[in-house]
Amino acid sequence: MSATAYLVVHRGQGADASSSRYAVPYTPGQSVLDGLRFVRQVLDPTLSVRHSCISANTCKECMIVVDGKVTYACTARLEPREMVLQPLPNKAHLRDLVTEIAPPDERLDHALKALGRPPGGSPAR
Ligand code: FES
Repeated sequence: MSATAYLVVHRGQGADASSSRYAVPYTPGQSVLDGLRFVRQVLDPTLSVRHSCISANTCKECMIVVDGKVTYACTARLEPREMVLQPLPNKAHLRDLVTEIAPPDERLDHALKALGRPPGGSPAR
C-alpha cells in the first residue's frame, strides 16, 4: 500500500485567503517542492509556486511557510501526513504561495522607472 501526503495550501492572505487540499503520492526522500511540482503537473496547473534551481538550494526562491515555520520548500521533507503550506507572511503577496522576494532596487518597476517608463505598463510605442 502506498503512502500519501496531503498538502493544504493557503492560496492568499487576508480577506482573499482560501485553501486547497491535495493528495500527493509519497516516496521517502521527496521534498515539499517535489509534492508541489506534482500538484502543478498532475492535479492543478493553476497553483502558483516559485522555484528556480529545483532542490540545489541556491536560488532561495522557494521560501514558504511549512507547518508554521519559514523554510525552503526544496529542502523541507515531504511527509506522509497533512502538511500546511502558506506564503511568507511578511512579504507582499502576489499569488498563492508566491510573494515578492526581490530587493526593491531589483524589481521591474524600479528598472522601468530608471528607464523613464511607467511602472507595470507596457513598453512605449
Ligand atoms: S528551489 Fe532553489 S532554493 Fe529551493
